[in-house]
Amino acid sequence: MIEVKNVSYTYAVGTPFEKNALREISFSVSEGDFLAIAGHTGSGKSTLIQIIAGLIDLQSGAVEVDGESIGVQTARRKIGIVFQYPEHQLFEETVAKDIAFGPRNFGLSETEISKRVEEAMKFVGLDFALKDVSPFELSGGQKRRVAIAGILALKPKYLILDEPTAGLDPKARRNLLAEIKKLHRAGVTIVFVSHSMEDIANLARRAVVLAQGRILFDGEPRKLFAQEKILDAAGLLPPPVTQLILELNRAGLSVDAGAMTLDEAEREILRRLN
Ligand SMILES: Nc1ncnc2c1ncn2[C@@H]1O[C@H](COP(=O)(O)OP(=O)(O)OP(=O)(O)O)[C@@H](O)[C@H]1O
Ligand SMILES: [Mg+2]
Repeated sequence: MIEVKNVSYTYAVGTPFEKNALREISFSVSEGDFLAIAGHTGSGKSTLIQIIAGLIDLQSGAVEVDGESIGVQTARRKIGIVFQYPEHQLFEETVAKDIAFGPRNFGLSETEISKRVEEAMKFVGLDFALKDVSPFELSGGQKRRVAIAGILALKPKYLILDEPTAGLDPKARRNLLAEIKKLHRAGVTIVFVSHSMEDIANLARRAVVLAQGRILFDGEPRKLFAQEKILDAAGLLPPPVTQLILELNRAGLSVDAGAMTLDEAEREILRRLN
């Protein structure tokens, strides 16, 4: 379990640029969770996940991973983090070397490293024959897979992804989401930052909504989408399906606004019409 306890964070303390990015944030992520973090631009999402991963030092409050402070290396190593546009951080000459970079830093044996590179490539659907190719020759979607494979090769128990589908074309996006789902089924606890309420509706079991550094909502996505006031306050719109249902309800149909996937909405609307 990851526990975030009363975490506040201010950038540029004592300067004219001082900015309270997080204010008294508390929540926890249980093993097996699939948690989405949503919020308007500047609401503190990236700051929060970097603090959880131990990349930004705490100013106040605490972060614990399985009961151990994030300041401790064994705790930090349980967490893998994939940044926004992770492909910008590829730098090795070959795909295999790039994926092997993290495991090598962990001090693993060469045999173990090769095994992990192969497994990680397979997992993200990269042909093993690409291992000796320069990552810079790959397509955008493939580059992102290489970057994600590099994190998976560390075998994190908790995987945090910051806007994993940003900038991908619809097909690459669908594939990547399917892979994240597969990882979750394989037992990895997932925390993903997303602007897409549709992705949150389709994937997440739980959503935490940030606005101006505070938690406005923590609960099931379907409950979130039924609360227009909270979405408004957070500057978010529900998924298109839910928007349609809300419109139909304004026209007097009274469909359950908790229906949030296409299938659910179709069933609900047909039920009302019949
Ligand atoms: N290095 C920094 N120095 C000063 N202020 C910062 C820094 N990084 C972020 N901020 C400010 O802190 C606040 C939270 O930023 P953060 O990047 O965590 O938001 P976000 O929710 O991830 O936004 P986005 O959706 O645009 O990625 C914003 O007001 C931002 O301008
Ligand atoms: Mg961000």
